[in-house]
Amino acid sequence: MTEHRSYLRSLERSRRSLTREDRPEVFAMAGREWDLLDGVFAPPFSATTGIALDVLGLTGDDEPRYRPGGSFLEIGTGTGIIAVSAALAGCARVVAADISTAAVRNTALNAVRHGVGDRLRAVHSDLFAALDADERFDTVYWHSNFVLAPPDYRPETQHEIAYVDPGYQAHRRYLSEAPGLLAEGGSALLQFSDRGDVALLHEMADSCERELVVRDRRRFLEGAEELEHILFEIRG
Ligand SMILES: C[S@@+](CC[C@H](N)C(=O)[O-])C[C@H]1O[C@@H](n2cnc3c(N)ncnc32)[C@H](O)[C@@H]1O
Repeated sequence: MTEHRSYLRSLERSRRSLTREDRPEVFAMAGREWDLLDGVFAPPFSATTGIALDVLGLTGDDEPRYRPGGSFLEIGTGTGIIAVSAALAGCARVVAADISTAAVRNTALNAVRHGVGDRLRAVHSDLFAALDADERFDTVYWHSNFVLAPPDYRPETQHEIAYVDPGYQAHRRYLSEAPGLLAEGGSALLQFSDRGDVALLHEMADSCERELVVRDRRRFLEGAEELEHILFEIRG
């Protein structure tokens, strides 16, 4: 495994992010202020949430990857910054799901802070498990925990699950199930990274008869490390 893909380094990043002295209770991003609760993935400590907002067209001039007036499901909502921004950008129905209970609370807080509590529902869910069986969406999106951990690794905190996916078990389910949640003409999106195992992701997609189409790529520096984020559309 190359150094930048090391799950141990990602676990170290997770621990540091929880205990840094400069971890804020409120942070500014995309022209707004956001609550950050203890134990939740911290957007100010990584470029990746900002990239997510950009590739979805929720900031600046990029092509919108959501449907104004439509529905948007975010898996792994964290602070809720992406889901709330989608509601503010005109999505009429937003569901924001996370396996972390603190993230669900955090998202509900930010929805109220920005006045979209009437059209955003924050749900505690392992991927799609807690959604109504007949719910369908124009956009399904996950900025995932793309670093591969060994299949038998047991995360010690909910926060570690924001960084690593043991055996890519959650990714395998997302690839298989996300297209089934789409309304007619909708798109299922996965924001992944070259910190993850892109070749294995493709193998898993093939094995469940999904096609991965690259919709966007962004290169950026994190410290001295050059990284790439890739927005895949899952077809099939
Ligand atoms: C990289 S963080 C992204 C957080 C937020 N969307 C952002 O961009 O700031 C990944 C998120 O996925 C969530 N997650 C991981 N596995 C999940 C699962 N099986 N079901 C739901 N959420 C999950 C984590 O708890 C975490 O909040």
